[in-house]
Amino acid sequence: MVVVKDMSFKAGQELKISGKAKEATAFYIEIGHDDDAIALHFNPRFDSHGDCNTIVCNSKQGGAWMDEHRESCFPFQPDEAFKVIITFNNETFYINLPDGTMMHFPNRFGDDKFKYIHFGGDAKMHSIKIK
Ligand code: GAL
Repeated sequence: MVVVKDMSFKAGQELKISGKAKEATAFYIEIGHDDDAIALHFNPRFDSHGDCNTIVCNSKQGGAWMDEHRESCFPFQPDEAFKVIITFNNETFYINLPDGTMMHFPNRFGDDKFKYIHFGGDAKMHSIKIK
């Protein structure tokens, strides 16, 4: 698990995360203010919580999960390296998946700056870059 605090990720900037899924379960990337205020929870599930090969996205406000979004496209393989590029404005997060698909998720907080990035689950982080 990797937590990055006090590194600003601002609207218009690009967050590039590369890693490798270890086992066929699940991993996540989160962007927000803290563990109880997550604007984007991006959660590819190989086999977890009853989902197979599905990307689940959600936000957490006041410690409570909100409405989930599901994406059928699943360009991840266990034991394979991946790269995900995330950008956002105060309305939408854009997640560029490894096969080039651009996923959308609403920015329910409407904020244009986040300082909490959390990566974890059954994956190893190789690098994280913001520019
Ligand atoms: C829950 C799961 C959390 C998170 C959430 C997203 O079932 O325990 O880790 O993925 O779904 O809505």
